[in-house]
Amino acid sequence: MTAMETSLLDDVHYVSDLGDFIVPATLRVVSDLRIADHLRDGPRKVTELAELTGAHPRALLRALRVLAARGIFRETDPENFELTRRAQLLRGDHPFSLRDGLTLLSCDVEAFARFDHSVRTNEASFDHVHGEGYWEWMSRHPDESARFDATQQGATRLELRASFAAYDWSELGSIADIGGGNGAFLAGLLSRYRSLKGCLFDLPHVVEGAPRILDKAGVTERCEIRGGSFFEAVPAGYDAYLMKRILYSWPDDKVRAVLRTVRAAMREDSRMLLIEPMETPGNAREPGKVYDLLMLALGGGSARSEDHLAALFDEAGLRLERVVPTLMYPIVEARPR
Ligand SMILES: C[S@@+](CC[C@H](N)C(=O)[O-])C[C@H]1O[C@@H](n2cnc3c(N)ncnc32)[C@H](O)[C@@H]1O
Repeated sequence: MTAMETSLLDDVHYVSDLGDFIVPATLRVVSDLRIADHLRDGPRKVTELAELTGAHPRALLRALRVLAARGIFRETDPENFELTRRAQLLRGDHPFSLRDGLTLLSCDVEAFARFDHSVRTNEASFDHVHGEGYWEWMSRHPDESARFDATQQGATRLELRASFAAYDWSELGSIADIGGGNGAFLAGLLSRYRSLKGCLFDLPHVVEGAPRILDKAGVTERCEIRGGSFFEAVPAGYDAYLMKRILYSWPDDKVRAVLRTVRAAMREDSRMLLIEPMETPGNAREPGKVYDLLMLALGGGSARSEDHLAALFDEAGLRLERVVPTLMYPIVEARPR
């Protein structure tokens, strides 16, 4: 084969890998089976891995070979696999673990099967496919909802590290985490800052999972748990109102409504803190660009520019004060105007 043919073939593999859904689905299933955790202490036979995880040995072998061909796992001897550097990221105990964020949620996959609807209309393909919004659907599917909450918890570990380094949380006496899921971020914040008091606010069926997480972190006494909707009312009078990965999952009209509710609960000296991907123009490879599309498909939402957020804040009686970059997503700070 000539050098030109080899490079063309490389491009063909690259583009077809990007275009398929087989490799991503395989990666997610293998990650969910916790194969990488079972390989932590060294290589193992596929038959042993299959027995440990309840997988079919032949099917698991085929799946691991597909991933090994892409640098995740290595077949050292026939049917014997070990971790590669990249596969370490699928271990649950890795500081940058991706394992719990890679759950294959079938409702998301079904929405993406009709992503053409979103690209044509700029609206959620999820609602188009399922006939209702993401959170209504989740409230009727408790198993998927619990799996979703666990994916959020996985990402939160990285976000905690990034935001501790970038922002001075010690200035705050109290903080309400609005749409805080099962409380993983707030638990991390309260265990680091021992005089901080917190309030976890999310939909009633979501906060049901919080006591266990807050208890495990030893912060139960300093944290109130409130179930409700941020379109109606949120608890009043906290120093800070955090919304992590909330606004970007909604279209502008819904964002206006959430901002109005939260602004009504704030004191004149409270601050609002957003942590979420912002719009990233140009060719840079930013994870925020991909999540922007995820939000479009699942909720008709969007990553927004600083100017766009500033205008939405302004309408709600808030002023965007600053955008603090972190190693993950920026922290956007706003105050009543
Ligand atoms: C993308 S998740 C982010 C969770 C958490 N803030 C985090 O970053 O891990 C969005 C959260 O918004 C919550 N949510 C959706 N609709 C809500 C509503 N009307 N009122 C309160 N919370 C809501 C969901 O239950 C979910 O926990």
